[in-house]
Amino acid sequence: MALRAAELLRQHAYVGGVWCAADNGATIDVRNPFDNSLLGTIPNLGATETARAIAAADDALPAWRAKTGKERGAILRRWHQLIERHSDDLALLLTLEQGKPLAEAKGELNYALSFVEWFAEEAKRVYGDVLPTPRSDQRMMAIRQPVGVVAAIIAWNFPSALVTRKVSPALAAGCTVVLKPSELTPFTALALAWLGEQAGIPPGVFNVVTGDPAPIGCELAGSSVVRKLTFTGSTATGRLLMQQSASNIKKLSLELGGNAPFIVFEDADLDDAVQGLMASKFRNAGQTCVCANRVFVHASVAGTFAAKLRAEIERMKLGNGLDKDVTIGPLIDQRAVQKVSRLVDDAVAKGARLLSGGRLSEPGSLLFQPTLLDGISNDMDIAHAEIFGPVVALSVFESEESVLARANDSESGLAAYFYTASLERTWRVMEALEYGIVGINTGAVSNEVGPFGGVKESGVGREGSKYGIEEFLELKYACLAGKSFNSAR
Ligand code: SIN
Repeated sequence: MALRAAELLRQHAYVGGVWCAADNGATIDVRNPFDNSLLGTIPNLGATETARAIAAADDALPAWRAKTGKERGAILRRWHQLIERHSDDLALLLTLEQGKPLAEAKGELNYALSFVEWFAEEAKRVYGDVLPTPRSDQRMMAIRQPVGVVAAIIAWNFPSALVTRKVSPALAAGCTVVLKPSELTPFTALALAWLGEQAGIPPGVFNVVTGDPAPIGCELAGSSVVRKLTFTGSTATGRLLMQQSASNIKKLSLELGGNAPFIVFEDADLDDAVQGLMASKFRNAGQTCVCANRVFVHASVAGTFAAKLRAEIERMKLGNGLDKDVTIGPLIDQRAVQKVSRLVDDAVAKGARLLSGGRLSEPGSLLFQPTLLDGISNDMDIAHAEIFGPVVALSVFESEESVLARANDSESGLAAYFYTASLERTWRVMEALEYGIVGINTGAVSNEVGPFGGVKESGVGREGSKYGIEEFLELKYACLAGKSFNSAR
């Protein structure tokens, strides 16, 4: 691996400021999803080492919490500088372990950096309030304080941005963190922790535990020392963590699965809509929770839209993310390939038309072709499931009312998109969509400024934005009584 700074490849966990192995020496192999080559190993920690990381975060909490927001912000700024300085290496690491094209990995690094910058600034803007009192012999206020030790568990699809979107606001707020990256893509997170160490984040403030998810997740969720758990991943795992966290009534942020509708109305600019769909659907090979998942096109423009889309899809180049001209990389593992293949086969068996792609480009690989299906009907699994792969499934609709009903007919409520030229429809449809995020005439909604999160089974809480730091703060109300508050008249 040709990293300019070889120290960025960390093959140990990071607990209490010490880079460490598992107590029993167990490791997990980390492989490149493009060619299955071995990139390195990580320690397979269990409950005991996780408890140690929680204790380290707890020990580090009083001193970190006692720093001013300005002091914590300055450390985050130094972290930002170092991540920026090493972003070429980090992007390389990210492509190798995750598979996305290098240009996309660099884009993700910029996205990750935007959260560090944002929360470095927000650290000094945690305000309280003096409240109007109902009694003249009392004064009242509300202050915000760090929630305490935070557990952050993240998925494999954004190995850098999910780290910084959770760790930066937690540290800015004065919390300490135990992070569990995915065992499929741990190296970017470990490199970020190493840069955090170089930036002066004190020992124990930011810990990284690596290994199989079940024992680590159970320990983090079940610990009463951990006062907040923030998770990005599947709805099934989010539900389990919520149950495990119930024993100690932990504060939770859950960013779970999506099933985004993408609606193209008859008055939409079709070229813009095609570009928006390409950006939304094929980012990270369709493996994002905000990906367009169910595409509804008005019957009067469906044929033209499908033809334009097909031309764009056939221009994509599938392959090794390190090759310059590659625009889409492999899926993450065999399970993902099986799921996507099964959804495509089921749709075709039930009458969908395969307009492009539909299978692996090389048998035995994880390279699933960008795929276009039309004629999707409600009896097909693909009409309901979160695809999490590079497959566009087109359905037609006749009226705004019917498409809204179909769009909202989902247990998920993360992102939704629509294209229209009508101002009144824009407002009406935006309000009617039961989703936490709505993209209007755009397929790109993710940035550090907008509150990211869903409704229904897509989760609880918001990340990024001016609201994101709230998730790591508790509000304390104080009432002060005294006889001589009023000045003598
Ligand atoms: C995700 O898929 O978990 C995050 C996507 C994003 O931040 O845009």
